[in-house]
Amino acid sequence: MEISMKFQPAPVRSKSAEVAQLTPLSFTRTDAFYELEQLIGLKQVKRTIAEVTAFSLVQKQRNDKGLKPSPIVLHAIFKGNPGTGKTTVARIFGKIFHDIGMLSRGHLVEAERADLVGEYIGHTALKTKEILKKSLGGVLFVDEAYTLAKGGEKDFGQEAVATLVKAMEDQRNNLIVILAGYCSEMDSFINSNPGLRSRFPIQIDFDDYTSDQLFQIAMQMYTERDYELSSKCRWKLKSKLNGFVKCHHPHSGNARYVRNLVEKSLRLQALRIVDNDNLTRRELMILEEIDLPDVVIN
Ligand SMILES: Nc1ncnc2c1ncn2[C@@H]1O[C@H](COP(=O)(O)OP(=O)(O)OP(=O)(O)O)[C@@H](O)[C@H]1O
Ligand SMILES: [Mg+2]
Repeated sequence: MEISMKFQPAPVRSKSAEVAQLTPLSFTRTDAFYELEQLIGLKQVKRTIAEVTAFSLVQKQRNDKGLKPSPIVLHAIFKGNPGTGKTTVARIFGKIFHDIGMLSRGHLVEAERADLVGEYIGHTALKTKEILKKSLGGVLFVDEAYTLAKGGEKDFGQEAVATLVKAMEDQRNNLIVILAGYCSEMDSFINSNPGLRSRFPIQIDFDDYTSDQLFQIAMQMYTERDYELSSKCRWKLKSKLNGFVKCHHPHSGNARYVRNLVEKSLRLQALRIVDNDNLTRRELMILEEIDLPDVVIN
């Protein structure tokens, strides 16, 4: 997608005043920016992208005036519980950094320990290099990255980390490595590897969503799918999410819980109306209180 460098007001299409404010006015936002705007909350993510976008635009102007380029490192650590949006954001990072000219492809390669660590000497470097090759020009997203340290000094995980770190230096202009995982595990992983922290200048905490945010996420999911909630159903959803946030376990899924709940409710609605062959548009869209499941398996 084309990026205009002319100074012009940001299009009014933006839904989020917060991001409109953070996105430079001189930038015509691409689809990936709209995707980012749609995400509920995630202030730190939006702020980081605004900084990098601004930096990239200023670099282009500096370049035009013959000033020295200053490459920056964009490797990142994403810390947070399941379902807080880490993978979703990593994918958007790739697309946006491609759109602003910092990555040549902008695709996302997801990997976990088993994709990087081998079973015999030499196997790990081979496996890790293979994944790195696939990721060039985009984002390599290593989920549950702390497991690379789980076997201690003698474990091949260390070799995977060393190979990653080398590629992060060598390919820093065309590869972003994101290590992701639960907060406390990632903290001890980073602390156990001296020098690792400074190689990841972007560190983002993905907080658990509040019940209001989960409600907004749910409503967005229904709207995107062309469904509506009756007012009773809306109230039931609100109180379910309040209850969920009050008593939930940190690993119980956040926005993923919401997605499962939304999908289950669509199935329950279908079951309620399926025997009527002559459904109106409204009946096809509306979800009633009884369509919201009492229990959702996560
Ligand atoms: N801020 C948000 N706004 C809207 N939808 C969101 C938001 N955060 C997450 N979601 C949705 O929730 C689901 C789970 O998100 P995602 O897979 O990115 O979480 P995750 O942090 O990577 O979880 P895990 O650690 O389990 O891999 C996705 O369907 C995503 O679209
Ligand atoms: Mg994920």
